[in-house]
Amino acid sequence: MRTFSNVWRCVALAAVFVLNVAHSADAFAAVRKFEMNIEDTRITLVEKQQYHTFAFAGQVPGPLFYVDEGDQIEVNVNNVTALPHSVHWHGMLQKGTWKMDGVPGTTQEAIKPGESFTYKFTAEPSGTMWYHCHVNVNEHVALRGMWGPFVVRPKKPTALEKTVTKEFIMMLSDWDSKWSSKPGFGGVPGDVYDFFTINGKSFPDNQPLRVNKGDVVRLRFIGAGDLVHSIHLHGHIMKVAFKDGFPLANPISADTILVGPGERYDVIFTADNPGRWMIHDHVDSHTMNGDRPMGGIMSVLEYNEIKPDDFYDWKAKKFEPNFYYEESLKKGPGVYTNDGFKGQAVQ
Ligand code: CU
Repeated sequence: MRTFSNVWRCVALAAVFVLNVAHSADAFAAVRKFEMNIEDTRITLVEKQQYHTFAFAGQVPGPLFYVDEGDQIEVNVNNVTALPHSVHWHGMLQKGTWKMDGVPGTTQEAIKPGESFTYKFTAEPSGTMWYHCHVNVNEHVALRGMWGPFVVRPKKPTALEKTVTKEFIMMLSDWDSKWSSKPGFGGVPGDVYDFFTINGKSFPDNQPLRVNKGDVVRLRFIGAGDLVHSIHLHGHIMKVAFKDGFPLANPISADTILVGPGERYDVIFTADNPGRWMIHDHVDSHTMNGDRPMGGIMSVLEYNEIKPDDFYDWKAKKFEPNFYYEESLKKGPGVYTNDGFKGQAVQ
């Protein structure tokens, strides 16, 4: 089954990202060109639990696309795997470009193994969006990690979002371990999800969110899996400021929000309560790793001012500063891969 051309594999190993920025007819819009492969990749969710994915650029989540509203986007996608795929740019309106919507059998033929397809569209509207495969979504999106963040910076930011000093992306997803080494199968009635991840990693192998007192923090939640997650942040009041990228006229206050499949919520809060605070899924079964509790969708909001205590589970944690794309998001528009999300190529 895996006898496809090694030519594309070479391209994959080169992990080439081409970013060309030029000016389009709109004086303020850029033309942004990207090259992206889909690769058979084995990732580790937590501890010894590995999973065979069809990974964008060999990583789960896929690269962050961070662009400006109105930019002209061109993404050439090379399918290096043995199964057909496509890319749906979830949230993009595709005005006049419906054939770029990425739905096989409706807007295009699926991209066959060894073939390529170039998506061209305008980044519209602004907000927290995402992209995912639209072939056999029950398996490819729900179980094979075929998703990544797509953030469109608005031409006219809201007063509230202008106050933000630090932002994080959290993609929530669910896995059924019985299909972990059976690519091409799974996503069927009766599947039982037994692993749960934030950005492809379960607690304790994910990362803390580190802030300083006084930061105004934006969390961009993306429901990339098949289940609804009930996210509770301790010690703070979140303002729910955006739904699916759209600003809410009157942001509501919350300590727990539901994030369903496909949904995005952006919450903003002030880091005004130094300490270590849990952020976790309140669906108890989503805080398990297989049959073991205290895993899954859990993390800790850490203030840099607070020194580690001996009892702290993560006192010796090796910190990865871009796990939530927080460093990439500081840099402004571009496409950002993340070495921490890279898996191993599967031949
Ligand atoms: Cu696919």
